Amino acid sequence: MELGRNLFCSTIGRKLIMAVTGVVLIAFVVGHLVGNLQVFEDPDRINGYAHFLQSLGPALWAVRIVLLACVTLHIWAGITLALDDRRARGDEPYAVNRWIQAAFASRYMRSTGYIVLAFIIYHIAHFTVGVAQPATFKTNIAHYTMKGDYHVLGVTVVRGGTEVLDVRSMVIRGFENPLVSLFYMVAVGLLSVHLLHGADSLFQTLGLRNHRWERFLQLVVTAGCAAYFLGNLAIPGAAVVGLLK
Ligand code: HEM
Repeated sequence: MELGRNLFCSTIGRKLIMAVTGVVLIAFVVGHLVGNLQVFEDPDRINGYAHFLQSLGPALWAVRIVLLACVTLHIWAGITLALDDRRARGDEPYAVNRWIQAAFASRYMRSTGYIVLAFIIYHIAHFTVGVAQPATFKTNIAHYTMKGDYHVLGVTVVRGGTEVLDVRSMVIRGFENPLVSLFYMVAVGLLSVHLLHGADSLFQTLGLRNHRWERFLQLVVTAGCAAYFLGNLAIPGAAVVGLLK
């Protein structure tokens, strides 16, 4: 009871909530990108992967519930921390340059966060539910017969000959519209910037800032965010210029 109150009511507790949920969400987006990059391989790969995920049934729903809880907590902690910060500052003008930078970063985090949220809602409607574009309706997705087995860590999880949804074609068709592709590219760009600033706040919460590792950590995070952006850019980019067929 006391622990819950400390966690949800104190500033450090809510910063910890932001950090932990942020790390879970980063793990999801990186894993999702690695899975999606299979679109560049034989159709068996991404179609087998999507079929495997769907076959997880209740486990998939458990992961979805955890992700939804993380997104909700992350947004709630972010908003309440920003409100507390504003209340504590009152109407006092910024005296120190560093404060201006901090206020800019936090406003930036909020606006990129809201756009990423809007993107996620559109994206689920687009690919998971299939309602954002009539051409990508789930019911219209062609079926595909697996040529070979699909393995995860050496274990066969989808057998050759199984009829699965042709998720690869759905993704490629989903990016046929250049405006949709452009929206994805802008959204993943903003998400990458959000991750870059988020990692900075994470290091501060964990007390890693002003540490002798700071510069090295910043370099690793910047390279990671750039790689994440390019990986995500590659999929709609390749589809829209006709490199993915
Ligand atoms: C070019 C980039 C991306 C591609 C090609 C892509 C592809 C897909 C596909 C095909 C699905 C539907 C899976 C299915 O139901 O069979 C999906 C679901 C999803 N994607 Fe993405 N995605 C991309 C980027 C992102 C990003 C950047 C995020 C997060 C910010 C994201 C979050 C999600 C979520 C939350 C789902 C729903 C998962 C579920 O079924 O519960 N995706 N994505």
